This record gives sequence, structure tokens and C-alpha cells, in this order.
Amino acid sequence: AAIEKGGFDHFMLKEVFEQPQTILDSLRGRLDAKKGTLTIGGIRDHLSQLAGAKRIIIVACGTSWHAGLVAEYMIEELCRIPVEVEYASEFRYRNPVVGEGDVIIAVSQSGETADTLVAIEAAKKKGATILGVCNVVGSSIARISDAGAYTHAGPEIGVASTKAFTAQLAVLCLIGLKVAMEKGSITEQRFQHLLDELDHIPEKVAAALQLNEQIKEIAAKYKDARDFLYLGRGYNFPVALEGALKLKEISYIHAEGYPAAEMKHGPIALVDENLPVVFVATRDSYYEKVVSNIQEIKARKGKVIAVVTEGDLTIPAMADDVITVPEADELVAPIVSVIPLQLLAYHVGVLKGYDVDKPRNLAKSVTVE
Ligand code: G6P
Repeated sequence: AAIEKGGFDHFMLKEVFEQPQTILDSLRGRLDAKKGTLTIGGIRDHLSQLAGAKRIIIVACGTSWHAGLVAEYMIEELCRIPVEVEYASEFRYRNPVVGEGDVIIAVSQSGETADTLVAIEAAKKKGATILGVCNVVGSSIARISDAGAYTHAGPEIGVASTKAFTAQLAVLCLIGLKVAMEKGSITEQRFQHLLDELDHIPEKVAAALQLNEQIKEIAAKYKDARDFLYLGRGYNFPVALEGALKLKEISYIHAEGYPAAEMKHGPIALVDENLPVVFVATRDSYYEKVVSNIQEIKARKGKVIAVVTEGDLTIPAMADDVITVPEADELVAPIVSVIPLQLLAYHVGVLKGYDVDKPRNLAKSVTVE
């Protein structure tokens, strides 16, 4: 087992550290930034249909649902197609309005999640086109999909999903870019810029991984907190949800992810000197707004742990702990900003003495409803 873990203490940590490679694998053969080309074989025959879709519905569970939320923002911005993101378990039972002209993107690491599988079977019967974004090759969801793209992250053993998530973000971004190009809703310049950004993501993720020791210290400082709040806006809002989910899953600490602006409608009531608040606050179009949200937390004596972009001087002057990651376009920034949150959850779980690879009550793949 020690060999299988490649020298790491746990599969989860091994998989977190594999990400520069697995993201590269998800891009390989598809993205050629130098030539300015993008090829996704699995959706080639459905491109015009995708570009002409009335709307896109993303169906998923758990971490894959969070990747879907990021994709909603990416696809709406790039393709100007309305996107809805649905929990598969809700979608399948509420007799949704769906049919021809709708494209469903099913996002699933395992490709076996029962709720997601049944949801797309029903939508397919009603005439929707199904696109699968799965990690496991030949899985049930991949097989019933009309088209799709694999994430190629390799086998994920740790129950808490990590490398599958970043591969999903990379592939969903590729799909958004490809459809935008087909539709003509993106300029050549922006297209090329985002290809270059994706091309540089693996090295930025590698840089974020170098923060491991620093994050372990932060974990030691806050591991006895009873609750955590995770906040972000825009592309980083789903990252906040994912950070909170990771912490809940493996450290059993109650954590809530929220859109930073929405906290004033509830969660802010919980803020006092005992509440660590993790801000995903990299530099993007929401930055100034997030700075005010941090001030609101500090005014109530909350402890702020902020994930910021290199060169930021404003937030570090306000936060209690600062985690600095490389700059990236806001569309792809979640792939980098989630890394410290995976590490934070990992170290808190380990410091508390839990089996982070097999958290209680959770299954890697939920094949019953
Ligand atoms: C389980 C796993 C999660 C995963 C979710 C969806 O809850 O523990 O890590 O995100 O299922 O799984 P899928 O394989 O469909 O992505």
C-alpha cells in the first residue's frame, strides 16, 4: 500500500500532488496553445448542435456539482447560452421541463452515481442530447451519453474528490471554448488568451502545491474550531463551496460555503472571534467587493484566512493568515485557488487523527439512491 501511495501518507495527498500532471493529461491532445487550436474528438459531431442549444443543463452530485457551477459561469460568459445547474437527485424527481433542443451535461468522476445516471436516462427519453464528462472510461454514464469528453485524471482512490475536480474544470473550460468558437461568441484574441492561460495552469498548480507546509501550519492553528465559513464570489463562489465540502468530508468540522455577498443575509450572525472565515479572494472582477466583505468580517472579529493573488498588498494587511497563489485569468483561477483548500482540509483531517482516505459514512461512488 505504501508503494501504491507513491511515498505519500495517504491517497488523498498523492492525488492532490498529482494535479499538475493530471490537468496536463486532461488537456493533452486537445489543447495546442502555440498553434491556437483546440480539438475535442468526443464532441466533434455535436458541435453545431451545442452551439445552437436553447439552453444547457448541467446535472451532477457532490464535488462534480461544484465543477458544474463553475462551468455555468464559464459557458454563459463564453457562449451566451443559458445554463442551469441541477442536483441530479432533485432533477430526476421533479418532472423537469426538458426535451429536444436541450443539451444536458452530466458531470461525474465515477460515471456510476445512481442519481445522475437515472436523471440523464429520463432526459434522454424526452429527447435531450446528453454529453458526459466522466473520469472513468467505459462507465455507465459515459456509455449512455450521446457524446462527451473524458477527464483523464486517472483512478481516484481517496473518497474526497480532488484531482477529478480540477480535471473537470479544465475539460468543461475546453468545451466552453470550443462551443464559443463554433458559435462565434468569443473573439480570436480572448480565445487565444484563454488557451495560453490553460496551457500555464499546470505550472501554477505546481506553485500552489509548494504552499503545503505553510498550509499545514494554518491547519494546526485552526483545527479545533467548531465551525468554518468559506466565502467567495463569481468564479470563486463554487470554490468556496468545494472548500467547505472538503473540510466537512474529512475533518468532520461543520463548514458552510456561501457567496460572499450573501453572508449578510444570514451567516454573518455566526461571526465572532472563534469563527475562521476562509476567503477565496484572488484578483478578479469581483476583487473590490470581496475586500469590503473581508472588512465586514474583521469588524465582527472573525478570523480571516485569505487565498490571494501574488502581489496583492491590500488583503494581506487585513487578513489573519494569507495564502498566496499565482495570478490566473478568473475563468481558470478556480483550478489554482482550490488547491490550498484541498490541502487545508487534508491537514486538518490528519491533525485530528482521522482516516482521510476513508471518511466515515461516505462512499467513493454512490450507486444507490
Ligand atoms: C460521492 C463522492 C464525492 C463525489 C460524489 C459524486 O459523494 O464521495 O466525492 O463528488 O459522490 O460522484 P461522481 O462520481 O458522480 O462525480
